[in-house]
Amino acid sequence: MSGTANGSADNGGANSAMAPGVNGRAYPFVDHEYDVVVVGAGGAGLRATLGCAEAGLRTACVTKVFPTRSHTVAAQGGVAASLGNMGPDSWQWHMYDTVKGADWLGDQDAIEYLCRNAPEAVYELEHFGVPFSRTEDGKIYQRPFGGMTTEFGEGPPAQRTCAAADRTGHAMLHTLYGQSLRHSAEFYIEYFAIDLIMDEDGACRGVVALCLDDGTLHRFKSKKTILATGGYGRAYFSCTSAHTCTGDGNAMVLRAGLPLQDMEFIQFHPTGIYGAGVLITEGSRGEGGYLTNSEGERFMERYAPSAKDLASRDVVSRSMTVEIREGRGVGPEGDHIFLHLDHLDPAILAERLPGISESAKIFAGVDVTRAPIPVLPTVHYNMGGIPTNYHGEVIASTNADGNQMVPGLMAIGEAASVSVHGANRLGSNSLIDLVVFGRAAADRCAATIEKGRAHAPLPADAGEIAVSRLDQTRYASGGTPTSALRLDMQKAMQTNCAVFRTGEVLDEGVEKISGIWNASDDISVSDRSLIWNTDLVETLEYQNLIEQAAVTVNSAANRQESRGAHAREDFSERDDENWMKHTLAWADTSERTVKLGYRDVHNFTLTNEVKYIPPKARVY
Ligand code: SIN
Repeated sequence: MSGTANGSADNGGANSAMAPGVNGRAYPFVDHEYDVVVVGAGGAGLRATLGCAEAGLRTACVTKVFPTRSHTVAAQGGVAASLGNMGPDSWQWHMYDTVKGADWLGDQDAIEYLCRNAPEAVYELEHFGVPFSRTEDGKIYQRPFGGMTTEFGEGPPAQRTCAAADRTGHAMLHTLYGQSLRHSAEFYIEYFAIDLIMDEDGACRGVVALCLDDGTLHRFKSKKTILATGGYGRAYFSCTSAHTCTGDGNAMVLRAGLPLQDMEFIQFHPTGIYGAGVLITEGSRGEGGYLTNSEGERFMERYAPSAKDLASRDVVSRSMTVEIREGRGVGPEGDHIFLHLDHLDPAILAERLPGISESAKIFAGVDVTRAPIPVLPTVHYNMGGIPTNYHGEVIASTNADGNQMVPGLMAIGEAASVSVHGANRLGSNSLIDLVVFGRAAADRCAATIEKGRAHAPLPADAGEIAVSRLDQTRYASGGTPTSALRLDMQKAMQTNCAVFRTGEVLDEGVEKISGIWNASDDISVSDRSLIWNTDLVETLEYQNLIEQAAVTVNSAANRQESRGAHAREDFSERDDENWMKHTLAWADTSERTVKLGYRDVHNFTLTNEVKYIPPKARVY
């Protein structure tokens, strides 16, 4: 289904305007005006949309898939908040775990904001109608997740992850969409955002999007544009991400001449189903599941004597990779690991893990009550993204006077690097990030947008860049199909920017990705229409992915230390003296080159209620 789900009678102030022709072809625009345009309808996009609409701002949400099909729907295990329903807990302990999980690359003011606001954000979800699982006495059920502890890492594991069985993201997404409609937000569904509209002063003035089902081009003028476009897992060959996870907002930011931050930090989830890449939630280990090698050994006891299978994801993924490399993998080729749930009570599996029990049956042919699931670390999450402060406002760069912001532009969710996840995200901190910062962005819009104030006129050439890229892509007549270039990129990223990295392998990756990026001149698109042209849309998505692959592999080759998910075998230690800093990466998309710079990590807290947590060795 395409079109506005509940567009107002005047359709966002829409009218038609002619765009200048490209190569003799005219591309008329349908023009719209809103206070806020949110791009993306996952958990963060919907929470921001509903917050802005509730505040009385004219709000549109532009999304390339139907909202309840956004990738948040696939999030399984839960949402972290220190409710303390299943044992003692505090937001300060949650903050400590998040700083440590991030391997001291997270900004501590933003982490404080996340953890202190998490309980309220979860109660808000409960009141919106999220059907959380319940304890005997009717409270929200919470399960253990990796890296979540009590007593500042000294106590037993925390039961902090609030769950709706193993379909928490699904429950949140449906609830947030319903709430957004209740507040009369307007949706532009199956609209593909092509590029931002930037003015001569570097401010963002809106976005250009293609309506997929009728081929019309839309120019959204907005006082604030919020990018909530998710991650770019599809730059890799094997990932838990949906095919739609192509980081479209990140790439729009690069093409606007702005940097992305910490792109070298790619999270591999320990338990993707072998071969299929489909996610088996960390909640399965939270409920008592464990990993074994070909000798039947519970090897995590050696690598993380205290947290064992519930160490942070980077630690578990590396341990699994070492086991396989050292010849203790399972299966005919010794190339994966077993996840056991077969010792758990089938009634508990049916109640708390029904979704992954079904996935294991469909994608691995395994009955989880009887046999282990074959699993392998699989690309799952991008810690890096569009640099923002904790209000969701985008940072252009940093100089002696502090952060230089981009007027009119905000980013939230996996697209953003706030940075609360630093070098490694803890499981279930993603869903809480979506709602805490989705709400923070809406609050910021409500506080800063003057309702009823007229929009400034758009620059004379507004939208021309987007149209010219669209036209060039639509008529691309080289000899290489998009699918071939995409596959080359995905294989290069999988091989050359993996769980373990060396300078040599990364430098080879830089060369390979640069070659594929340059080969994009020879791309061929065979369908010239504008209506449901999947060939065209996949090519625009590929262009987005290759730009992000380039900044990722260049940032990884540059960082000469090991921190969080970035594990260099040639620089195996964390180096706080030289590398406790964020990478900023700019792409020159005409020259196809990458430039790098840095930003200081925020080693200060938001309030005096909590002290800065100094770095120490990260052991579990
Ligand atoms: C999971 O349930 O393991 C995925 C959720 C997350 O990445 O936080």
